[in-house]
Amino acid sequence: MNNEKIKLAIIGAGRWGFNHVRTALGILAPENITICDSSDASLARVKELNEKINLVKDLSDVLGNQEINAVIIATPAETHYDIAKKTLNAGKNTFVEKPITLKSSDAEELLQLSIEKELKLMVGHILLYHPAILKIKQEVENKKIGKLQYIYSNRLNLGALRSEENILWSFAPHDISIIQYITGANPVDVKSHGATFLQHDIEDTTLTYLTYPDNVHAHIYVSWLHPFKEQRMIVIGDVGMFVFEDTLKTEKLKFYPKGFKKVNGAFEKFDGDYEVVDFEPGQPLMSEQQHFFDAINNNTKPVTDGQHALDVLRILEKAQEGLKQV
Ligand SMILES: NC(=O)c1ccc[n+]([C@@H]2O[C@H](COP(=O)([O-])OP(=O)(O)OC[C@H]3O[C@@H](n4cnc5c(N)ncnc54)[C@H](O)[C@@H]3O)[C@@H](O)[C@H]2O)c1
Repeated sequence: MNNEKIKLAIIGAGRWGFNHVRTALGILAPENITICDSSDASLARVKELNEKINLVKDLSDVLGNQEINAVIIATPAETHYDIAKKTLNAGKNTFVEKPITLKSSDAEELLQLSIEKELKLMVGHILLYHPAILKIKQEVENKKIGKLQYIYSNRLNLGALRSEENILWSFAPHDISIIQYITGANPVDVKSHGATFLQHDIEDTTLTYLTYPDNVHAHIYVSWLHPFKEQRMIVIGDVGMFVFEDTLKTEKLKFYPKGFKKVNGAFEKFDGDYEVVDFEPGQPLMSEQQHFFDAINNNTKPVTDGQHALDVLRILEKAQEGLKQV
């Protein structure tokens, strides 16, 4: 890890960006971190956290600083495209929080720009850095559940209600990115239904159905109008099933040897007890940032690179079109 070569700027230190700041302090020296935020209140909070971090209000102070070679953009989604275009044009490796942009044509442009400029472009699909998701991926590849058949995800809570985006754009990028990662494919069909109760034209709940090649199916149910927090993902194969519940304190990941097999032409149920699956402890945000720095240091391709971001965005757009057709 040559982290001493990394000179990082974080643009946007609001609710989520502040987590990036705290995490970066665990990896880099504060003198090597610059925070850019247009709000005095956000900058004051960072100053309280660490006096040695450089603080700037104007993006041009990041763009014109030749030392800065890595940028994390954690501003609201509608600003991502403009800011990322500027940071890439200024020769900075760029990490953009999810969703990378609001339009796939904009994400395509950023991807092309990063290729032309030979810079890293990465998106903040943090769950691909969660050790439990890495474990599921590894075990699916090891055929622990046999033939992959069905994945579903419930991401439900009461709030945080957003007015600039609906629940699909707020929550589902995470689930889509995980399903893309586990299947290793793009869906052949995307269908979505939603319902609006609270704000005009902003869906509070959506159900998205994804059909993948090789008879693999998935659905994603997201809502911010739900009595309690639930983050449950189930991955079903023909010889077993994984259940991942990140909101649990213990036994977050379980394997169930359950299913049906054909015996003498008739289906017979097998219904074994679950076993708890251990996974390496780890902090996803720290792993994600380190992955970005490693990609810069070692010239490697990030798992959540610009192409991955674009694939996820195209699925979001198709799902969004589906919502409007109902
Ligand atoms: N990966 C995750 O799990 C995760 C979780 C939450 C939010 N996010 C993403 O993080 C991003 C930020 O969300 P948030 O909830 O922190 O938003 P927020 O509104 O709390 O914070 C945004 C910050 O950016 C600053 N800002 C806005 N425009 C700016 C500009 N042009 N230049 C400099 N600073 C500017 C604001 O002053 C504010 O401090 C969003 O894209 C969101 O989707 C990701």
